[in-house]
Amino acid sequence: MSWWGSRYYDGFMEGAERAYLGRWRDELLAQAGGDVLEIGAGTGVNLNHYPGSLASLALCEPDEGMVALLRQRLGESDPPVPGRVFEAPGERLPAEDSSIDVVVSTLVLCTVADLDASLAEVHRVLKPGGRLLFMEHVAEHRPVPYAFQRMATPFWKRFAGGCCLDRKSGEVIAAAGFEVTSLDRRPMKGFFDITWPAIVGVAVR
Ligand SMILES: C[S@@+](CC[C@H](N)C(=O)[O-])C[C@H]1O[C@@H](n2cnc3c(N)ncnc32)[C@H](O)[C@@H]1O
Repeated sequence: MSWWGSRYYDGFMEGAERAYLGRWRDELLAQAGGDVLEIGAGTGVNLNHYPGSLASLALCEPDEGMVALLRQRLGESDPPVPGRVFEAPGERLPAEDSSIDVVVSTLVLCTVADLDASLAEVHRVLKPGGRLLFMEHVAEHRPVPYAFQRMATPFWKRFAGGCCLDRKSGEVIAAAGFEVTSLDRRPMKGFFDITWPAIVGVAVR
C-alpha cells in the first residue's frame, strides 16, 4: 500500500468501523487467548478489541507505512498491550512451527499476494488444535455480482493496496487443511453503496 493509502486507511474505514466492523472485531477477538499472532495487522485497529488476558501478541505487517502507524498505535495503547511488531508478510511468518495458539486475520486474505502460501504458513505456525480467527470479505455466491467482482478486481486492486473482491477465502481455508468450526456469512455494507459479503469465523488446525 502506498504511503498515501496507509495514512488515510483508518479514515476511509471509519464509517464501517462504527456501523458494524468494530462490533464484529469485539465478538471475534473475545475468543483470542494465549500466544497470538496477527497477520496483516495494518494500522493496529484490532489493538482496542483484544481481551486483556493474552500471553503474547505478534503483530505482523509487511507494509512500511502501515508498520510505522502500527508501532505508534501500539505505543499509545491504553491499557498497554504486550505486543511486538514484525515487518513480515503472511507468506513468511516470524514464528516457529506449532508455536502459536491463535492466528488472527481481519480483512487480509483478500490482499495477500499468495493466499495458499499464507494459509500454509498459518497452518505451520499454529499448534495442533490452534485456531485461526478470521473476518474477511469474500466472493459473492450469486453469479451476476460475482461476475462484476471478477471484472472490477483488476481495477480495484490498483487503488486498494492489492485487495481482490473475488476471493473464495472460506473455501480456500477449508482446503488448506483446517476444520472450519464456525463461519457466519454477513452483508458488509461497503463503499459506493455496494454490499460485499463477509465471513466471520473460526478454523482449527
Ligand atoms: C485492508 S488492510 C486490513 C488491515 C487490518 N488487518 C484491519 O483489520 O483493518 C490489509 C492489510 O494487509 C496487508 N498486506 C498486504 N500484503 C500482505 C501480505 N502478503 N501478507 C500479510 N499482509 C499483507 C496490507 O499492508 C494491509 O495492512
